Amino acid sequence: MFRNFVLIFLVSSTVNSLNILVYSPIFAASHTNFMARLADTLTEAGHNVTFLAPVMDERRKSQLGVKITKDVVLVEQDEEMKHHLSPVDDDMALYWKTEVTPWNMNTIFSVFTDSMRQGCANFLRNKDVYDSMKSRNFDVGIYEPLSVCGLGFMYAIGIRRTISASSCVFYDSVLNVVGEPLELSHVPAQTSKFGEDMSLSERVHNYQMSKALEGVNFKGFEVETKLYQEHFDVPDWRELMLDSSFHFVNAIPYLDFPRTVTQKTISIGGISIDMEFIESQKLSKEWSDVLDTRKHNMLISFGSLVRSQDMPIEWRRGLLEAIRSEPNVTFIWKYESDDVSWAKGVSNIHFSKWVPQTALLNHPRLSAFLTHGGLGSTTELAFLGKPALMVPIFADQERNANMLARHGGVRVFQKNNLENVKTAIHDVLFNKDYLKHAKKLAELLNNQPTHPKNQVVNHLEFAGKFGPFPEMNSRGIDLGFIQKNLIDVYFVLYAPYFVGYFAVFLVVLWFVRAKEVFRKVKDL
Ligand SMILES: *[C@@H]1O[C@H](CO)[C@@H](O)[C@H](O)[C@H]1NC(C)=O
Ligand SMILES: *[C@@H]1O[C@H](CO)[C@@H](O)[C@H](O)[C@H]1NC(C)=O
Repeated sequence: MFRNFVLIFLVSSTVNSLNILVYSPIFAASHTNFMARLADTLTEAGHNVTFLAPVMDERRKSQLGVKITKDVVLVEQDEEMKHHLSPVDDDMALYWKTEVTPWNMNTIFSVFTDSMRQGCANFLRNKDVYDSMKSRNFDVGIYEPLSVCGLGFMYAIGIRRTISASSCVFYDSVLNVVGEPLELSHVPAQTSKFGEDMSLSERVHNYQMSKALEGVNFKGFEVETKLYQEHFDVPDWRELMLDSSFHFVNAIPYLDFPRTVTQKTISIGGISIDMEFIESQKLSKEWSDVLDTRKHNMLISFGSLVRSQDMPIEWRRGLLEAIRSEPNVTFIWKYESDDVSWAKGVSNIHFSKWVPQTALLNHPRLSAFLTHGGLGSTTELAFLGKPALMVPIFADQERNANMLARHGGVRVFQKNNLENVKTAIHDVLFNKDYLKHAKKLAELLNNQPTHPKNQVVNHLEFAGKFGPFPEMNSRGIDLGFIQKNLIDVYFVLYAPYFVGYFAVFLVVLWFVRAKEVFRKVKDL
């Protein structure tokens, strides 16, 4: 079914081609790749797509992720930005040991917010880009609501039809602004550590994490608004965000925690998964030989943002001990450094700086995965149906891990406990229940009734023709806490009862008193 949809969608896209601007700051692979998939999906459907990419992180500008979209406009860093920017890489090792809390979130994410702000200022200073973009008469603009710099810019160059696209399941900061309820009593916030069944103290923490992240984002948005308002006469970011025609979110309804969304919110999770391509991949002889060495194979990868080589040595030793205790399993570890002397004498590890992740996950000889739970890897894992041990490091990874664990195919493990990971690894490798549940989920996901690519193309074309849709904006955002939560209505409905009961109470009290007084008078 998944595949038939692709065919239908390729054939049926005969509408006039639209000029589309995709604004994607270059700072982290997971965000860029998602925006690149959107761009390529629209290019594939016959639209004229420009991928506008301000460089926030110099080292990532060769990894834009766009494959068939040809019009890529890189906005290079000028001298002023280079001068102000703190190096990002050196700080990433911190994330292994740092526990993100509501109180340190501001500091923890300051590397990102700082580079976002510098990048925004740099982007807006670039007059050539402004002129060139303005002349292209874009019909629709797509931005990620992690920054509002591009959103203000789009308004300035005359784009009135925008679509927000979150590479995460959602951003807490966006929901309140666009009138979507964030039900923190049973929906884990983006950076929450818990699942949907929370104790009171967990709900308190969930709430605090959500508000802290919202605070970080709001602060960034305010700064960016000031920046773009220095250049252009453009409304506040809240107004612009609310006026987005649709909100694409990288969530899969069948996979995510159930939650209430607005009618503008369109789930397009799984858009990065190209099953046809994954199944067509052939493993090289070298990788094939690695898989054939032992009966079982486990892939270990912590993604590209936080490096395995920076993992605290005692945790690496814990993993090493677990590996040593499984002589029938080859562990393929995505590892960045050539210096692996700390693993000397353990023969069943295969270190590699690069791994063909989806080809391996799809291979019958691969038994299990150990992953940090970035949303990209989490989605691939869900679609390819392998058991996994998920060891979240930071950001939304804990939520992703808990989200997948609900379906029974994976087990979540705390990074702080990596010294004692042995039994968990054995469990995931040899307890057949994980495999059974993982396969069941994969089959479901591969047979969903809608295809994310169709959702993107259809909604974009609709927005391009008829958007924006102010009629779809919830009136709820204009209401205060009392009105929104019906507290005034409860008051009107139930206050008479209280007044009535109170009156009866007073009368009874009066009688009791009167009786006592009467008795006392009589006794005298
Ligand atoms: C597509 O965009 C490019 C670059 O702006 C422009 O030269 C070209 O004319 C556009 N094509 C259409 C069909 O609008
Ligand atoms: C490894 O496999 C062999 C042969 O199947 C088996 O006899 C042995 O017990 C296994 N070792 C472990 C530690 O599972």
